[in-house]
Amino acid sequence: MLTLHPNVQKLNIINFRKNNRCETSENKMEQKNFKRTTVTSALPYANGPVHIGHLAGVYVPADIYVRYLRLKGRDVLFVGGSDEHGVPVTIRAKKEGCTVQDVVDRYHGIIKKSFEDFGISFDVYSRTTSDIHHKFASDFFKKLYDDGKFIEQTSEQFYDEETKQFLTDRNIKGECPRCHAEGAYGDQCEKCGATLSPDELINPVNAINGNPLVKKATKHWYLPLNDYQQWLEKWILEDHTEWRSNVYGQCKSWLDSGLKPRAVTRDLDWGIPVPVEGADGKVLYVWFDAPIGYISNTKEICDANPEKYGNWEKWWKDEDTRLIHFIGKDNIVFHCIVFPAMLKAHGDYILPDNVPSNEFLNLEGNKISTSKNYAVWLNEYLEELPNRQDELRYVLTANAPETKDNDFTWADFQARCNNELVAVYGNFVNRALQLTQKYYDGIVPECGELTDTDKATLEEFVSIKDKVETLLEGFKFREAQKEAMNLARIGNKYIADEEPWKVIKTDPERVKTVIYISLQLTANLAIAFEPFLPFSSAKLRKMINMPDVNWEDLGNTNILPAGKQLGKPELLFSKIEDDVIKFQMDKLEATIKANAEANAEAKPVKETVSFDDFTKLDIRVATVLECERVPKMKKLLKFKLDDGTPKGRTIVSGISQWYEPEQLVGKQVLFIANLAPREFKNGLVSEGMILSAENWDGSIAVTTVEKQVKGGSQVC
Ligand code: MF3
Ligand code: ZN
Repeated sequence: MLTLHPNVQKLNIINFRKNNRCETSENKMEQKNFKRTTVTSALPYANGPVHIGHLAGVYVPADIYVRYLRLKGRDVLFVGGSDEHGVPVTIRAKKEGCTVQDVVDRYHGIIKKSFEDFGISFDVYSRTTSDIHHKFASDFFKKLYDDGKFIEQTSEQFYDEETKQFLTDRNIKGECPRCHAEGAYGDQCEKCGATLSPDELINPVNAINGNPLVKKATKHWYLPLNDYQQWLEKWILEDHTEWRSNVYGQCKSWLDSGLKPRAVTRDLDWGIPVPVEGADGKVLYVWFDAPIGYISNTKEICDANPEKYGNWEKWWKDEDTRLIHFIGKDNIVFHCIVFPAMLKAHGDYILPDNVPSNEFLNLEGNKISTSKNYAVWLNEYLEELPNRQDELRYVLTANAPETKDNDFTWADFQARCNNELVAVYGNFVNRALQLTQKYYDGIVPECGELTDTDKATLEEFVSIKDKVETLLEGFKFREAQKEAMNLARIGNKYIADEEPWKVIKTDPERVKTVIYISLQLTANLAIAFEPFLPFSSAKLRKMINMPDVNWEDLGNTNILPAGKQLGKPELLFSKIEDDVIKFQMDKLEATIKANAEANAEAKPVKETVSFDDFTKLDIRVATVLECERVPKMKKLLKFKLDDGTPKGRTIVSGISQWYEPEQLVGKQVLFIANLAPREFKNGLVSEGMILSAENWDGSIAVTTVEKQVKGGSQVC
């Protein structure tokens, strides 16, 4: 039992009351009777290493949340693993000229190590090629099959007679029926953005070898999502209004367009064989087996460690368990609609209570891309910036794409490390510890009479626990970390204002109190940052000789008692120098250059045309008067243009992924004025085509003129 200094005791009473009051958010959880939490994070495809986008979007937030729950003493299981089936890994194997098994073995190893290195504290990190998973997913399918939950449908699919393979939509290429561009995929034309089915392509061929394709009948099993429509509408739209608006909104738009049966099997030679008669050469669709991996991985760890984790079923079948899925936005439909429908169809399982999905992280303004090698890979980061895990964790959380896409830049990384971690947090802690060392041989001094500034400073941080907890429980990691950093700002200001290094000469007694308070703040920082920056917190705890973290001490103003011997002070953070940043920027530049060159090679200049042919195209300039999204056609933007005519012109363009409509209003764009009008499924007619450039990363930039001209001006 600690004896509190009477002055500090008073403040601890304030503390205590505050804590009591804030228990309400937890009580809410207890009322629902949640005894434990199962936290999953999306299983990354084992088709490449993991990069900062993965970390920022899924694994750092999940890890912060799990570390926090553990610190609160809650029962939690954190499940991860590699997604080793599906088309992406097979494409990688073809590219690298090795077997698929080689690919997944290699990347599973690299990914697993990266997560360990970054302190992502999984209870289990397994893989979907494990025997346990194969059996588990196969049994899951079989049960749904036996219970009559699937519908069987035979359809004509494209088939390559030479390789004896049915092709997935992505593996089919052809001419786009809309814009007539070559090389449109079976699911989408990347040129005009049209959503396609392979049947619509003109002259479809095998995208890998160019072979012509024939139609052949094949049977598949479908989960009739339409049967779950009403139930999903109630479960999500009525009962989960608290989900993040991006998640809720995406679900609503899927539900509004009406759910259709979804095939859960594929003709592929890589995956889990479909466990029914007459299904030779067919495997479970990767999005059917992968989420089941959360469950089979749980089983794996529980079976191996029953004393620690108990029976796996309690994590998945007990109503007292709260299930949380951490994912990126491209996974929303699978985790909020398809997987819950699968769990519901099975009948024994609980459903997710929340699905905190992030948006995307871009890199220096461009899309991160595994296939274009444009990323900051975690394994390379640690080779080039050794021991700087927490720096990256910090910046990715400070800049987390929680509500919108965000950009990672190396300049911002450097600024946040140097101006926040080093100059605020590190600087404060270093001053407090060095002065303790210098004046008191590293022993916590006695606290004397408190001044008004002391009291104000202490009061400022007693509410930290409430704030951080409320934010973390609400999945607001970015703001939660800001609050933790705020503690350091308070400390930094306090010590700078009090100037103990000066006061020591005139009033040494006073300095004891200043240092005492600074040390309590330091201890609070170690606790507050524990979920966010686990490596630095451990380092700091060593310096202040605080081996255990007691989360409940957060906000306590008397953690390190007078007379306690502290450890040896070291620098908590060090500066990121300019050359480190330059090296990273050069590396990205080189990747961009290589991609641009490959792009130019892949798209040689087209056949020469005569001048007469050229002049047949009527290219003009127009001013964008209005621009809006098209309901139910996600890719499209509809433009109302001033083309110099009184009536104006309507053009529809598949570029909504790259622009917010309001960004384009008022801009001048180039368009083809004499292209035959084109009608969309919903009756919308596009009177021409806006010209845009495709960047090396696949992003789109509309073309414009160098200075303002009159709408309708001809380009010649
Ligand atoms: N591999 C998928 C992706 O990277 C995510 C799978 S999540 C799971 O987008 F639920 F299927 F496991
Ligand atoms: Zn097209």
